[in-house]
Amino acid sequence: MSLTPIIHIPYLMFFAINVAHLLIKIFMALSPLTLNLKSTNKPLYMIVGNRDLSNNSLNGPLPDFLIQLRSLKVLNVGKNNLTGLVPSGLLERSKRGSLLLSVDDNHDLCMKESCKKKKSFVALIASLSALLVILLLLLGFWIFKKRKVLMSSNSKREGSKASKHQIFSHAEILNITENFKTIIGEGGFGKVYIGILQDQTQVAVKRLSPSSMQGYKEFQSEAQLLTIVHHKNLVSLIGYCDEGEIKALIYEYMANGNLQQHLLGGNSNILKWNDRLNIAIDAAYGIDYMHNGIKPPIVHRDLKPSNILLDEKMHAKIADFGLSRVFGNEIDSHISTRPAGTFGYLDPECQRTGNISKRNDVYSFGIILFVLMTGRQAIERVDGESIHILEWVSPIIEGGDIKKVIDPRLKGEFHINSAWKVVEIAMSCILQIAAERPDISQILAGLNECLSLEMVQKNNGRERSIVEMPSVCVELESYPSAR
Ligand SMILES: Nc1ncnc2c1ncn2[C@@H]1O[C@H](COP(=O)(O)OP(=O)(O)OP(=O)(O)O)[C@@H](O)[C@H]1O
Ligand SMILES: [Mg+2]
Repeated sequence: MSLTPIIHIPYLMFFAINVAHLLIKIFMALSPLTLNLKSTNKPLYMIVGNRDLSNNSLNGPLPDFLIQLRSLKVLNVGKNNLTGLVPSGLLERSKRGSLLLSVDDNHDLCMKESCKKKKSFVALIASLSALLVILLLLLGFWIFKKRKVLMSSNSKREGSKASKHQIFSHAEILNITENFKTIIGEGGFGKVYIGILQDQTQVAVKRLSPSSMQGYKEFQSEAQLLTIVHHKNLVSLIGYCDEGEIKALIYEYMANGNLQQHLLGGNSNILKWNDRLNIAIDAAYGIDYMHNGIKPPIVHRDLKPSNILLDEKMHAKIADFGLSRVFGNEIDSHISTRPAGTFGYLDPECQRTGNISKRNDVYSFGIILFVLMTGRQAIERVDGESIHILEWVSPIIEGGDIKKVIDPRLKGEFHINSAWKVVEIAMSCILQIAAERPDISQILAGLNECLSLEMVQKNNGRERSIVEMPSVCVELESYPSAR
């Protein structure tokens, strides 16, 4: 049976308090206190005579000077709290019959010397038990500390076991992907394959093309770092492979693919307005965690609908966070062949100044919001010309006709107020001066408000027929031209 200090310590403390209490009582009994007359407040010498002092809340030992009071014929101090030894002179006088002495009902008052010895013995036992209690407490504390150290070293060991599991060999990668059998997508870093781990968990294996890794030395440490970042709205990095030229990232599998396919890929299931709001909110939670939930914060630098993945319940998670760190970029390393960010979503200020900040992600998120609302690509080719979504949407917003802004495939199934609110939020995200853009936490709060607006109006069962234009006080000159 193991001694569980957490349970025993309060019990031991209770015991120690009791022993301490007992010790104090004994100490008081043995110390030469003076008589204290609580009920009368008079000094004892004034009231002695033939009086009855019984039941008077007297405490302390009987003072020796009482022996000197020859006129004292009757002394009744019964039913008090007197302590110590009755002076021998008083006992002798009582024996001789010159004093009628009554000391009954004083629990701690002794008539003989042996009683005092007994008390010293009790005091000794009490001190020893108090010492024992202190020793037990110290032992309990020591065991508690030892268990804590043991537990933390166990968890460290488990952690190192886990981190071992995160490193996959090339053979393991071949095994889990069945020799790279099924491709689920392809991006700038290389192809993405479906994989199944030993415990039957489905994963997505991103095999990195050697060109995307050119000049980058810290793949392992950066990938290792990303495996410890977990949030319900971030696609988790389960592990990585780093065997010479062979490099791969193993991610949790997202059954419903990316947002781009659902929104723009000719998917017959049109995302409803509420679904779009929920996806925007999920994504904002993920970004908020990257920006404000971890230290040092992670700036994604490549936010776009194809990096927002959807699980089997259509919950959205941000993919490829931290990849700009894993791969470096031309601003940081001057070597990478791959520019950070994607045209259409890339913050023009970042392009111009090269400064990287959270507000670059906020800009990209603003474009994502416009893509979500309109169902249009960030850059579309019209009559052989590339048109950026902001060039297309801004004049319509200025015209105040929200129904022309929102994806026509929704067939008007959205609420005007919540739609305007999303427009307002999106406009604030793409402000020319990065410092004037809101933090993602404010954007998140705004989007949650939109969802509640939507819910309230749905519950009221009334559609607003009058189109109200909210205060969209945003400079519209700032949108970039298509690249
Ligand atoms: N964890 C995953 N679960 C399911 N599908 C995934 C996962 N990761 C990636 N994919 C699919 O693979 C596709 C390619 O992903 P990848 O990140 O390589 O490129 P991308 O994000 O589309 O573009 P880019 O390389 O420009 O960032 C994604 O669009 C997505 O459809
Ligand atoms: Mg991606």
